[in-house]
Amino acid sequence: MKTHINGESLEFEPRFDETALDVIRDRAELTGTKMACGGGICGACTVLVEGTPTCSCVMPATHMEGRNIQTIEAHGRDNLHPVQRAFMANEGLQCGFCTPGFVNEGIAFYERWRAEHGKTEPSRHEVALAMGGHLCRCAAYVGIYAAIQQACAGEFDDVTEIIAPRVDALEKVTGEAKYTVDTVLEGQLEGKIVRSIHPHAIVKNIDSTDALAMDGVVAVADLMEGKSRMRYVGQPIAAVAAINMATAERAARAVKVEYEVLPAVIGMEAAMQKGAPEVYADGRGDVASAAEGFSMPYLWQNNVARLPAKLSSWRPAAARRAISATKESTPNNVVERTYGTNQQAHSALEPHAAVAHWESPTELFVQASTQAVRALRHEIAEHFDLEDEQVTVDCQYIGGGFGAKATLYNEIKSAVTLAREANAPVRIVDSRLEELSYTGFRPSTNLEISIATKDDSSPTAVRIDAHSDAGIATGSMPATMYGLSGARVLRDLNDRNVVNNTSPGCAFRGPDGPAVTWAVEQAIDEAAERHGLDPVVIRRRWYPKHEIRNRLLDWVESIPTWNEREEMGGTGRYRRGLGLSSASWAFIYNPNTEVTVSTTRDGIAVNCATQDIGNGTRTSIAKAVEDAIGVDRHDVILHIGNAKHPVGPTAGGSQVTTSVYAPTYTATEKVRDHLLSEAESKMGLSGAKAVKGGVEHSSGLTPWAEICAVAEPFSYTDKRGAEPGPLGLRLNLSGGETGIALGMHLGHAVVLTEVEVDTRLGKVVPKNVWTGIAVGKIHVPELATSQMYGGVIQGLGYALYEQKQHDLATGNVLSANLNDYRIPGIGDVPEIHVHYDEEGYDDVRGGGIGLAELATVGVSASVGNAVHHATGWRPTHTPITPHDIVTGMKGA
Ligand code: FES
Repeated sequence: MKTHINGESLEFEPRFDETALDVIRDRAELTGTKMACGGGICGACTVLVEGTPTCSCVMPATHMEGRNIQTIEAHGRDNLHPVQRAFMANEGLQCGFCTPGFVNEGIAFYERWRAEHGKTEPSRHEVALAMGGHLCRCAAYVGIYAAIQQACAGEFDDVTEIIAPRVDALEKVTGEAKYTVDTVLEGQLEGKIVRSIHPHAIVKNIDSTDALAMDGVVAVADLMEGKSRMRYVGQPIAAVAAINMATAERAARAVKVEYEVLPAVIGMEAAMQKGAPEVYADGRGDVASAAEGFSMPYLWQNNVARLPAKLSSWRPAAARRAISATKESTPNNVVERTYGTNQQAHSALEPHAAVAHWESPTELFVQASTQAVRALRHEIAEHFDLEDEQVTVDCQYIGGGFGAKATLYNEIKSAVTLAREANAPVRIVDSRLEELSYTGFRPSTNLEISIATKDDSSPTAVRIDAHSDAGIATGSMPATMYGLSGARVLRDLNDRNVVNNTSPGCAFRGPDGPAVTWAVEQAIDEAAERHGLDPVVIRRRWYPKHEIRNRLLDWVESIPTWNEREEMGGTGRYRRGLGLSSASWAFIYNPNTEVTVSTTRDGIAVNCATQDIGNGTRTSIAKAVEDAIGVDRHDVILHIGNAKHPVGPTAGGSQVTTSVYAPTYTATEKVRDHLLSEAESKMGLSGAKAVKGGVEHSSGLTPWAEICAVAEPFSYTDKRGAEPGPLGLRLNLSGGETGIALGMHLGHAVVLTEVEVDTRLGKVVPKNVWTGIAVGKIHVPELATSQMYGGVIQGLGYALYEQKQHDLATGNVLSANLNDYRIPGIGDVPEIHVHYDEEGYDDVRGGGIGLAELATVGVSASVGNAVHHATGWRPTHTPITPHDIVTGMKGA
């Protein structure tokens, strides 16, 4: 059979189960086209077939016969299309995994649009219709709208230079960026994990005879590490290595596992029933601790684990007494309600993936889709009994993580184990079903909240009793998180984790924040309503000492839509509502971060063992060099994404920019001083002075690049270091290889959301979101704003669409594809307005703290308050479904 890809002929004999995507990626070795959902839902695999956008993951290879296929590689860096230029200029991407698919669809739309409308700008609605078959989990949709509109209007037709705030945008829009799933080593095998089919069972025996007898199967490895008990459907048992994925999948099905099936409990409600089977009846030595928050020594009662201490409560007994007394004296001053939140799956478009290769018995290479190259190296070394230096961990590009790829996860362990067994490199890439079922999620919660206020509405006491469901894991503590918000009230905050036989949850952007904020910020609004008060005014009374948060509230009061809002609960089928929420988040950073800045003959180079997950790490580092000495950020030579470099931060907890910017800046200043003296001694530029861009002297300006070309090599390493945290302590919660410190400040945010509710169909459409954030200096405004957009859109998904669901009888996940697990698409995106307040963080090294977590924390609560304002009915559970609205309004 013959096909044509990017003008080149390809002859091949298709396998019966082969897709066009397989042919493009494996036979033609064009890895710019990505596999993400495998079901024609997300559009990441989009190519042009005779000019028509087509999902290659659902196109049989046989349909390629005689046809012309165009992949992203047709538009490389020397042949850029205006759509690619517009994506780069408008921040239409973050991690870049979805980008080739979007760009191909955009090119096809551009051609159609221009043929029919000339150089005119399509509306947002027209762009949404055209791009509606694509999903971007980073939610770079605002930039994508702008990119398509501006490209169609001809704004990039004559552009020849690269305009891009993000330094790795070019690699992403051309498909050059190589992700772990694109890695191919010589002799590499494909691995498939054999997983438990029961939620609770003992594995009695594994028989891999039939699997090993199959053609193309090389090895089967035991993954149970001496533990035979399976506690959830999907728990790894073994793994198979074969010459290709199809063979590995068949062989995995041929592995016979003998189980002793045990009684199981699925979900929080069942696990709390009297007499429910105990999930850890055999002892709690291996309790999973990958859930949100920190692992603690719990007090257990059957499946319920309680924190032994009220970590962030303040006079809890007095809080309870105050609530009881207020209830008796002035019941109107106590708001009590039970709220619930859903399990939210991370759903990164690049699934969990790893390639492992034992280069010798004591030298291990791991390519992994990871948020933490340096910490991962240490974890791998410990787990496989190696020294850190014997392990190489590399990750240049990662297609999204959001918290689920920050540790030594199962797929990495499996690839390493299998590679040793097979004596060959092994790649393991999760299917979308595995990704949505077993790789972590934000725990669901049940939150009983009581707040007591005085007659003037100022708060006196808060009680929160939280139960969290993180599957077999513990570590969730939303009530405790509220105590860190800075509210000066009596607090009785109680957290319980309810373990059950489902897969373990893990940290997700703003761990525990969205859940507790959903409850508290709606309760505050309810109190305002009781007192007949404006929502802004009650928040000023709630947080009187928060000068920064009050400045953000001043900004809310300057928004015309807020001032012109109507009374709650309008009439008619379509009703508008405005909802406010405030939020805060801790300041986390890595004090052990070291950044080395060097001169090379080719320019200024920077080394740091951190990684760019789409958050813009590369750009933050390059921007620090640009700010320090005026070298264009695109000319900085960046060495990150490998554990061999000096210690760098994990890309989690909003700690990257605040950890890397300042040491990069300082080290660059030292390099500047060296180059200045080299300019004097080697180039005879006496009396010269360093300015932005180079060295100024009597004959003009000599650029840094020219001085680098003749200067003696020089390096300077600067360390981030710790600064006083809470109570003045320089807290470094994890020393050694990684390091996490808690800073003194909190970040603050306000979110104002405008929704339209279709009261007949129960549909909620966000129309506008205004979000103000105070985290100090914003180093790279374009990328910060992109993070803000992403956080808002993920928050809207949490509020309105996303829900991981289990079959309560079998423990199987029901929402295991991107149809059944709905994440926001481009058409769901409202107008988003971002405001920065940069004052008040001058004592932080670098002048600013992180924002990516805070961007999402308050969003769902603002939606809840907006729905209440529109309808008069208060939602209590996320996601707010059409059924909830219609039935809720009937009872309101
Ligand atoms: Fe779209 Fe990350 S940029 S999925």
